[in-house]
Order: sequence, then structure tokens, then C-alpha cells
Amino acid sequence: MLTGSTRDRLVCNMKQGWKYAAVIGLMAVSFGAAHAQDADEALIKKGEYISRLSDCVACHTALHGQAFAGGLEIKSPIGTIYSTNITPDPTYGIGKYTLQDFTKAVRQGIRKDGSTVYPAMPYPEFARLSDEDISALYAYFMHGVKPVARQNKQPDISWPLSMRWPLSIWRSMFVPSVPKGNDPSIQDPEIARGEYLVNGPGHCGECHTPRGFGMQVKAYDAKGGPVYLSGGAPIDNWIAPSLRSNSDTGLGRWSEDDIFFFLKTGRIDHSAVFGGMADVVAYSTQHWTDDDLRATAKYLKSMPAVPEGKNLGQDDGQTVALLEKGGQGNAGAEVYLHNCAICHMNDGSGVNRMFPPLAGNPVVLTDNPTSLANVVAFGGILPPTNWAPSAVAMPGFKDHLSDQQMADVVNFMRKAWGNNAPGTVSASDISKLRTTGAPVSTAGWNTSSQGWMAYVPQPYGHGWTFSPQTHSGVDNAQ
Ligand code: HEC
Ligand code: HEC
Ligand code: HEC
Repeated sequence: MLTGSTRDRLVCNMKQGWKYAAVIGLMAVSFGAAHAQDADEALIKKGEYISRLSDCVACHTALHGQAFAGGLEIKSPIGTIYSTNITPDPTYGIGKYTLQDFTKAVRQGIRKDGSTVYPAMPYPEFARLSDEDISALYAYFMHGVKPVARQNKQPDISWPLSMRWPLSIWRSMFVPSVPKGNDPSIQDPEIARGEYLVNGPGHCGECHTPRGFGMQVKAYDAKGGPVYLSGGAPIDNWIAPSLRSNSDTGLGRWSEDDIFFFLKTGRIDHSAVFGGMADVVAYSTQHWTDDDLRATAKYLKSMPAVPEGKNLGQDDGQTVALLEKGGQGNAGAEVYLHNCAICHMNDGSGVNRMFPPLAGNPVVLTDNPTSLANVVAFGGILPPTNWAPSAVAMPGFKDHLSDQQMADVVNFMRKAWGNNAPGTVSASDISKLRTTGAPVSTAGWNTSSQGWMAYVPQPYGHGWTFSPQTHSGVDNAQ
């Protein structure tokens, strides 16, 4: 803008004035450009953060592959799906996507060519993304991500299930149309932010809410009732437990601080991350701002418990006495004493931030014991995070213990220290888990299988693996 005095001078002295005008004009242009550049940079930065909230990288990067170039194998009951190249490469990636195309793909699962994306991509949750967040994401993917010329792999799914058109029926049946951004009915702005993060970009319910007969997530928000975030079925044989506040199988005994530090560092005094959640912490939540982690913790704690817990896991001393006497012929107690107590202790209390406690631990108490059996057979690695840089491992026992011994120790933990959960895992359950990867069946799970596309009941679990190749702390490419 020309100031009054500049204008005066322009009038007085045309020659001089033109010079001034040109200089000021140039300054204005370059100042404007710098300003626009700052604004773009800020938008791209914001987009990068939204992509962290949404964990785009974990699914869209193959093991040792280039970031966002796709190719991660996702095994499903009907065949293998590969994530796609979402770098801005114009030929192989999404370089030709307009903001509108991009919005449609992310929120509705519809590609530029009109075909429907497999719901392995969590678009039903991403439908919540606000317009601003989508625009920022788009700016990041177009200008902040390096283009990679890597061709997409076609899914290995045979006809007729390979046809994509039934997916649009799925979409119309199961994907609700939702308002964008924060839910205006939530008064507290911090809780509203937490609700948005959990149900929108964070897509926590993909794993933590059970699925229905068509594989759809049963409730995308709290309006779906008690089933919402009440715990999922096995994925890669890890169970995502309830995030509701019941005291035995949920977050009832977790404080806001516990949730905050678990999501930020992967470990707290009484729990440690493993399985699919290890990837979530490593690629996503450890990068969230403290404010966003607090909001998430506050939101999760604000929900009522369903069902109320019985406050299990209060040790009455019997288990410790049994172990101190060498197990006294209790097969599971003997296995525990000789193989586990050194780290997890006789009283099942573990060691803070190193070895998780087993008494009153939702992983031990949750309805389906698949995670429990899986961690005993295959072990687990507590990933290093930016905030807790050492990796700690739990050894797998499949080569040291028989199937019967593993079943015994699982059943022992279910009952020990006042845990009081059903302990009915058999040697054949362990053998199947170990050799075929089938989750441990309990009533209600695994009663029928196959034929997801035909909308026949299909437990979420057997054959489904989301990110088999991305194991935290191993792959520096991501
Ligand atoms: C849980 C895994 C997962 C996450 C998280 C995920 N995606 Fe995807 N996405 C997929 C899969 C799998 C496909 C391909 C599905 C298919 O072939 O139908 C896909 C497809 C897409 C497509 C369509 C690409 C094309 O070729 O037309 C876009 C765009 C996309 N994702 C963007 C994103 C963005 C942006 C994010 C983060 C905000 C994200 N995805 C997060 C799994 C995921
Ligand atoms: C890819 C599937 C997946 C996604 C997505 C996911 N989780 Fe998890 N989560 C798991 C699994 C599996 C476990 C059990 C292993 C463990 O405790 O580390 C778990 C455990 C947890 C726990 C510990 C619960 C307990 O009782 O031990 C919390 C808290 C949690 N998740 C919060 C979240 C939040 C918040 C989100 C969304 C930002 C989220 N999860 C997204 C799979 C997932
Ligand atoms: C060398 C020490 C060590 C030994 C021995 C050991 N564990 Fe662990 N255990 C760990 C560590 C470390 C973790 C956390 C691993 C992770 O989060 O990936 C863990 C995790 C677990 C968990 C999951 C709990 C949770 O909340 O993450 C269970 C259940 C478990 N161990 C049971 C056993 C049993 C049963 C045995 C004996 C058969 C055993 N452990 C032997 C160190 C050990």
C-alpha cells in the first residue's frame, strides 16, 4: 500500500516517483510472496501433523520402502490387499488428484477413477476430518512429500470377490454420513478435541471397537452405545482391549496421566505397549502434541464404564504362598515359577516400566485370551520411543515350552492373584495359534468363517493383518 507521503511525492516528482513506486511495488511483491510462502509452509507443516495424527505412514509404506510409496501387504480373509502410492508422483501416485479428488478418497474411499477403496483404509473415520485439516493434509501430500515413481501392486483377490463394485454397496450400508470436525454437542473444548482425535484422524475404533457381520466397525462414536470402544477382536492375534473405564478389562484403573504417558512413551508403571498398538505409538501417538494427548486422555476418561468391573486382581496372598512352596503340583504355577517369575515376580507385580504386572492387567483379564497366549508363545518387543529410548523384550516360549505347558501358564495367570477370569485354553488352542495363526476361540468368536464379501458373519481376526511388516524400532525408513 502506498502511504500518503509517497503519493505526494509521486504527484510532485513523477520521475522520482516512478522510481519509488517501482521500489515499493517490488517490495510489496516480494513481501507478499514471502508471506504467501510462510502461509504455505505453515499449512504444509500442519498437514504433516495431521498425517501423524492419522498414521497414514504406517499403512502406506512397505517394509524398508520409501515413505508413502505404498506396497504394504495387508492380508484379509478374501486375499491380499496392498496399500497404494500416495506420493505426489503424477503417474504412479496421486499427483493428479485435485483437492476435491483427494477429499473424496480420504473421506469417502472413492478414487479418482470412481472405484471404491477397500475399507482396510479407515475412510469411515476419516469422514470426520474437518475441511481445514483435509486442506492441510492435501498441501502436505502435494508439496511436502517426495514423489516416488513406484507402481501399485494389484490386490491378489480372485474373481468374483475381486470386483470392486460390491464395495460401494458396503459403503452405502455401513458408512454413516457424519458431521465434520468437533462435535458441537460436547461442551468442554478439550473433551471435544479428544473426541475428534479418537474418532476422526486417530481411528482408534478400527481396532478397539468390535465389528459386525459385514466387518463394519459397530459404532463410530459414543452415540453407538456400550459397544463403542468396548474392545475389538484379534488382529494379528493381538486383542485391542476396551478403552472404556471398567476396572478389570478397561481403563478404569488408568489415570489420565497413565493414558498420556502410555501414548507418548509406550510404557507406564503398570503396562507396556505391544502388538499393533506398538506401531500406533511408534508412528503416530508419540508424535502428537502434549495438548492433544491430554485431550485424548481426558476424553477417554470422560466416558462411563460398561459394564462395571468387579475390581479383580486384588491379591489375597494365596498365589504368592503357592509359588513360594514351589507350585505344589499346580502345573501352571510351576511353569510360571521357572520361566516367568524372574521378571514378572511372584506377586505378579512386575517391575515398573520394564516388566508389566500381570495381576489386574486387562491384557490378562480381557474376555478373549488370544493376546495372552500369543505373547507367551511369541514374546514381544517394547519399542524404543523418543521418550523412552531403550527397547525391552519379552522372550517367546514356543521353542521352550510344550503346548500343554503354555496353556497351563495362560490358565494360571487368568486365575492367579485374584484375577478370576475364565481359564479354559487348551493345548490344541495353543497348537493352532502357533502353527496356523488361528486366534484362540471362545464362545462367540470364530463360530463361522469365510465369505466376508457375502456378508456372512466373519470374526475379525483370522487372516487379517494390518501392518505385519512394520515392527516398531526395526524399520528406520518410516
Ligand atoms: C489402516 C491402514 C491405512 C491408513 C491408516 C491409511 N490408509 Fe490410505 N489406503 C489404505 C489401503 C489398503 C488403500 C488401498 C485400498 C484398495 O486397494 O482399495 C488405501 C488407499 C488410499 C487412497 C486412494 C489411493 C489411490 O490409489 O487412488 C488415498 C488417497 C489414501 N489411501 C490416502 C490416505 C491418507 C491421506 C491417509 C492418512 C490421513 C491414509 N490413507 C491412511 C490403507 C490405509
Ligand atoms: C492397529 C490397531 C490399533 C489401533 C489403530 C489403536 N490401537 Fe490401541 N491397542 C491395540 C492393541 C492390539 C492393544 C493391546 C496391546 C497393548 O496393550 O499394548 C492396544 C492397547 C491400547 C491401550 C492400553 C490398554 C490396556 O488396557 O492395556 C490404550 C490406552 C490404547 N490402546 C489407546 C489407543 C488409542 C487412543 C488409539 C487411537 C489413537 C488406539 N489405541 C489405536 C491396537 C490398536
Ligand atoms: C526376561 C524377562 C521376562 C520373562 C522371563 C518373561 N517376561 Fe513376560 N514380559 C516381559 C516384557 C519386557 C514384557 C513387555 C513386552 C511388550 O510390551 O512387548 C512382557 C509382557 C508380558 C505380558 C503382556 C502384559 C502387558 O501388559 O504387556 C504377559 C501376559 C507376559 N509377559 C507373561 C509372561 C509369562 C507367562 C512368562 C513366562 C512363560 C513371561 N512373561 C516371561 C518380560 C519377561
